[in-house]
Amino acid sequence: MNEYFPHLFEPIKIGKTTVKNRIFMPPISTNMADKGYVTDALVEHYSARAKGGVGLIVTEVTTVEPVYTYLPGDMSIYDDSYIPGWKKLVDAVHQYDTKILAQLFHPAYMAFPIPGTPQLIAPSNVGPYYAKSAPRAVTVEELHVLVQQFGELHAVFRSQAETELRFSVHMRMDCSVDSLHHFIIREQMSTAETLTDVSD
Ligand SMILES: Cc1cc2nc3c(=O)[nH]c(=O)nc-3n(C[C@H](O)[C@H](O)[C@H](O)COP(=O)(O)O)c2cc1C
Repeated sequence: MNEYFPHLFEPIKIGKTTVKNRIFMPPISTNMADKGYVTDALVEHYSARAKGGVGLIVTEVTTVEPVYTYLPGDMSIYDDSYIPGWKKLVDAVHQYDTKILAQLFHPAYMAFPIPGTPQLIAPSNVGPYYAKSAPRAVTVEELHVLVQQFGELHAVFRSQAETELRFSVHMRMDCSVDSLHHFIIREQMSTAETLTDVSD
């Protein structure tokens, strides 16, 4: 046992879930989904990490609605057609007693400029310097829809008890305070931002 990390290989209880050790995989986009669907390559990728001993995998960004895409090969879960792929992925990592969280996500002003993508959205029409293109201010009505989309997926993941899927609400990659995600979910989902809440 490494003297600097004496608890590394000890289990940790997070809400109602026990993770077998404290080795967590952060979200790393692979661009390996196919039109949002889980592919065999993705199953292999995450299974290999599980086999290697990771206790908890946080998946790469997983979009909650169909209009805006972060990377063309991102994962999605905006309707039930995605669930069989997710079930396959979750079952694969569970073979190794590894837990997995989906990183629910909306790309906002970082959406990929796929032809047909509408003007990007942000908390105001002054996007950050790294916005993919000049955004417009999201409307209150759109925010209500987005909150619902995040919330519905929360419900989906909760209802998939057999898969033990849990969810994580994403605060935008840089966690910048002006991010749309932060803006969107700060009030509605703030209790989900910490690991202690993921399995409540
Ligand atoms: C290729 C690559 C893809 C990434 N994809 C995501 C992602 O999908 N979601 C996310 O929140 N962070 C993503 N990140 C950020 C990593 O999660 C982050 O780098 C990791 O947590 C390590 O933190 P550090 O860079 O502060 O050391 C990505 C980073 C890299 C290098």
